[in-house]
Amino acid sequence: MVKYKVLISEERLKENVKELAEQISRDYEGKELVLVGVLKGGFIFLADLAREISIPVKIDFISVSSYGNATESSGVVKIIKDVDADVTGKHVLIVEDMIDTGVTLNYLKDFFSTKGCKSVKICTALNKPARRKTDVVIEYKGMEIPDEFVVGYGLDYAGKYRNLKEVVVVEEI
Ligand code: IMP
Ligand code: MG
Repeated sequence: MVKYKVLISEERLKENVKELAEQISRDYEGKELVLVGVLKGGFIFLADLAREISIPVKIDFISVSSYGNATESSGVVKIIKDVDADVTGKHVLIVEDMIDTGVTLNYLKDFFSTKGCKSVKICTALNKPARRKTDVVIEYKGMEIPDEFVVGYGLDYAGKYRNLKEVVVVEEI
């Protein structure tokens, strides 16, 4: 990466995680909750969020691909790996790094609804509403970002930069 600027600092990401985790802990008190991380991007946010949640939760992962080039998703979602556990009758919270067009999450919400879950809700670290193509209800909405391509905190460019601690805007690659 040649040039980038920090859009969201590590501190602000941490505060955001704490707020979301408090809400989730309150809302799901006494319920059987499964956090489903969306691989690969959701792995860092899920790890942070899970450790701030104060109620017992189960953790699972799903892997999806939205075929396309490095910065544009094609709109065609494919499940690469399904969750391991049976989520029938469970409360599922899908944990995602970013909601951009909304296509992936819309697909995943429908996908889980067919599994007979008690509820299916969405928690995202970042939200880019400017590029939405489809309406998607986000129950736990993280930080809003402008219409720019970002990396870090799980998000990649061509597979790299997921490990950056901040969310940064790529100015030149
Ligand atoms: P969707 O367009 O809402 O279906 O988002 C699909 C996926 O594209 C997200 O889960 C992210 O992994 C990825 N994505 C969206 N915007 C960005 C970005 O700015 N940088 C890196 N990945 C992104
Ligand atoms: Mg993602």
